[in-house]
Amino acid sequence: MNASVLWPAGPAAQSIAVIGWVLVIGGALIFAGVMALLAQALRRRETPRRVRPALWLIGGGVVFPVVVLSGLLGWSVALSARLAPTVPPGALVVSVTGHMWWWQVRYRDPASGADVVLANELRLPVGRSVVVGLNSADVIHSFWVPALAGKVDAVPGRVNRLVFSASEPGVFRAPCAEYCGRQHARMALQVVAQPQAEFDRWLAGQAQAAAEPATPLQHQGRQAFVAHRCVACHTVRGLAETSVGATLGPDLTHVGSRLTLGAGTLVNDPGALAAWIAGVQHYKPGARMPSFDAIDAPTLQAIGAYLAHLQ
Ligand code: CUA
Repeated sequence: MNASVLWPAGPAAQSIAVIGWVLVIGGALIFAGVMALLAQALRRRETPRRVRPALWLIGGGVVFPVVVLSGLLGWSVALSARLAPTVPPGALVVSVTGHMWWWQVRYRDPASGADVVLANELRLPVGRSVVVGLNSADVIHSFWVPALAGKVDAVPGRVNRLVFSASEPGVFRAPCAEYCGRQHARMALQVVAQPQAEFDRWLAGQAQAAAEPATPLQHQGRQAFVAHRCVACHTVRGLAETSVGATLGPDLTHVGSRLTLGAGTLVNDPGALAAWIAGVQHYKPGARMPSFDAIDAPTLQAIGAYLAHLQ
């Protein structure tokens, strides 16, 4: 998984990386030059050569910084224009909402026009611009995919916009970049860039209602999921028992298809799902969901099997 500004995988991140390298290398060269002058000054202690203070003060202290900094400012402003491009026609529009401590992601289903609500995973087609409308349900969070774009704050009560694209397929980690409370460190979004056709198939699948249980174990898991009132906070589209407006926790309609659980806390598999339910407060202390450690192991296993089946 790529989580580094040093390996840019999109045009915006590329511009940021170039600016970063020019600043680091340029700064290092100037530092080396100043140190060389200092070394020379220290060596020639016995027979001091007459220097012209006015020349050094005005040249080195005023003219040089003004020329270098103005040049850098003009250049970086011109390059930054690429970081906030106008929205190209055909851009994919996605709404992302920060919660303590997970991300809600909302697409529009191109087939029906209905909203498709997901969590903690944002997929986009390679080479196509995506416009992310960012807001927050509680405190200020910050959306940052280091390998693809600069960071933009998610602020309650307003929608901030970020336009970016990926130029190669891959999985990119997007950690929350603004301290937002106890589990700020476990609030990561996975960004998956894939070919357009693959993305279309994925979105069409995510727009579907949840799969029906296919095995006795999954049936048992579905029953336990309802009996333990998981449906009070989590929506599973198509599950009749889901409470209206159950949006306190992430939408679980296709939770089995996600790469991670708990916003990047655990790698997703049936065992991890069961472990997560029993030990949320162990893995992510302070999270809004309690640990359901009173549920017996076979039932947890069944719930895990049912949720993993929700592909
Ligand atoms: Cu959300 Cu830090």
